[in-house]
Amino acid sequence: MNVLLLGNGGREHAIAWKLSQSSLLRSLHIAPGNGGTGHLGTSADLDLLDFPSIERYIRKNQIELVVVGPEAPLVNGIADYLEDSKKVNVKVVGPRKAGAMLEGSKRFAKEFMNRHSIPTAQYASFKADELDKAIAYLDTFSPPYVLKADGLAAGKGVIITSSKQEAEDTLRSMLVDGAFDGAGSEVVIEAFLDGKEVSMFAVTDGRRFQLLPSAKDYKRAGDGDTGPNTGGMGAISPVPFLTEEFQEKALNQVIIPTIKGLEKDGIPYVGFLFFGLMKVGSEPFVVEYNCRLGDPETEVILPRIKSDLLHLFDSLCSGLLSEYDLVVDDRAASTLIVASEGYPGGYEKGKEIKFSDEIQEIDGHIFHSGTRESRKKVWTNGGRVLALTGRGNDLKEAIKNSYALKNCIEFEGGFSRTDIGQDALTE
Ligand code: AMP
Ligand code: GLY
Repeated sequence: MNVLLLGNGGREHAIAWKLSQSSLLRSLHIAPGNGGTGHLGTSADLDLLDFPSIERYIRKNQIELVVVGPEAPLVNGIADYLEDSKKVNVKVVGPRKAGAMLEGSKRFAKEFMNRHSIPTAQYASFKADELDKAIAYLDTFSPPYVLKADGLAAGKGVIITSSKQEAEDTLRSMLVDGAFDGAGSEVVIEAFLDGKEVSMFAVTDGRRFQLLPSAKDYKRAGDGDTGPNTGGMGAISPVPFLTEEFQEKALNQVIIPTIKGLEKDGIPYVGFLFFGLMKVGSEPFVVEYNCRLGDPETEVILPRIKSDLLHLFDSLCSGLLSEYDLVVDDRAASTLIVASEGYPGGYEKGKEIKFSDEIQEIDGHIFHSGTRESRKKVWTNGGRVLALTGRGNDLKEAIKNSYALKNCIEFEGGFSRTDIGQDALTE
């Protein structure tokens, strides 16, 4: 098959790496890709929101299947555009806009969960002219307060604060001053869930589904879960506190009701469903839905899948998902993000990254995120730069290998957390 993969993060490098091992692959095109994906396929300089250009590229290169990595094109309707196109006949891994709204609108997701009795934090949503009502609603909770911009805000639209003043100021900046480029013109305020976070993933055609390995993401910039929220500073898989009992509950209370709920609401869905769950006591609550795979979760999930990923995508798009035999490797994986100095705030790009030869001796894989290749060298090109995935017979060994990889790379100002996975080792 000729495949076009859209995106430029560590997630897409991991997907490209896995697809490139498929016996079904004829050609792989990655748009726009990054400094790590160039040798896995053809790089295409496409704007992911310019659907007509993507359609032209598909036609010109006889692309048969498109895998959409990030959320923005999905929420903006790329699947609708391509599937409804008379000019191309292409399979799309990724939901149409109606389903992507589970990620694209927090209010939509909360209403969906309430309608289908899926456990989530108690909430209310407020529009721009309801600032006073929103402030009054804060008083119905004890701190910390959880405020969420309704729309997409690249992982930065959630504010959790114990200060009532800060909560009020944030509401004002979102609702009145248009912070987050307007993603906060509507705000969800919800109860704080005190528990352990875990990410579960399903691939579904809207009726059938297969569960992928689960992961835990480390979202805060600093050790000990301190500092600002980021896109994710590391991840592990498997997750020790995700017991069989909890997984069963998550399946019956969240995952199956979500897929049935989509069907009942008449919303088609072909792609990934990412369940951001909080384990409160022994019960699952949905913190968020995403309509795609996670980053950096993908960098630990895909190395643990033994079976052919393109075969999975082909089965998914051909109504044969139930027949696909998903084989998961018992061995563990951990990934460690190396980020640019200043991330998740402002940072410089264009620092040369040096890789030492010892990398070959370590059981693991380096996935590129914010990098670019030029003049046969690799340069930083984003906030999260590399995802260092270590493998091992257990988490301890996998984590050790992630940190061993860290000793093999270097660039000015690069930083990582020093405690990825440590909490899981003491479970
Ligand atoms: P979201 O973008 O909705 O995933 O939120 C970003 C992060 O904020 C989550 O991964 C959680 O760590 C945290 N968070 C969101 N909602 C809540 C909540 N109701 N209670 C506690 N933490 C939350
Ligand atoms: N790592 C969280 C996300 O991809 O949204």
